[in-house]
Amino acid sequence: MTKLTVLEIPNPILYEKAQAVECVTPEIQTLLSDMLETMYKTNGVGLAGNQVGVLKRVVVIDCAGKEEKPDPIKMVNPKIISRSEEMVCHNEGCLSIPREYADVVRHEKVTVEYLDENGTLKQRSADGLLAIAIQHELDHLEGILFIDHLSPLKRKMLVKHLEKRRRKQARLEAENTQE
Ligand code: NI
Repeated sequence: MTKLTVLEIPNPILYEKAQAVECVTPEIQTLLSDMLETMYKTNGVGLAGNQVGVLKRVVVIDCAGKEEKPDPIKMVNPKIISRSEEMVCHNEGCLSIPREYADVVRHEKVTVEYLDENGTLKQRSADGLLAIAIQHELDHLEGILFIDHLSPLKRKMLVKHLEKRRRKQARLEAENTQE
């Protein structure tokens, strides 16, 4: 298995729409396994194709708590087929927007239909963190990030904060290499 590079904003691939997978080939299976490994290594709960530079409709999620046994879900061509009217607010983050968090309002429950890694059609109903992760990851496939759900002002502040931290990090690294 290979650890993949997770793209960060403002990489343009994150804002593009991913294309449907025509057939779940061994290459797709390998991609899903690599994405899952990458997600675990970076302590994420979800990862979408766009985030590893692949514009295909593939998503991996595992929302099991640290004490629970892993619950990896690999989804190809996922589609939300029902949504609750009830909404919830949750503090979200994203591996493509490292260490920045903000409250996002989403549907409390969703049912998603997808092909599993063997190309079998599956359905899964979810609530709690899993429902939020499914909506967050499926947004990625449309080129939408969680910060796109914020007000323009909040989004701008969050991105500025991230850029400031990046500049600071770059400065520290430059200083360290001079010594
Ligand atoms: Ni994300």
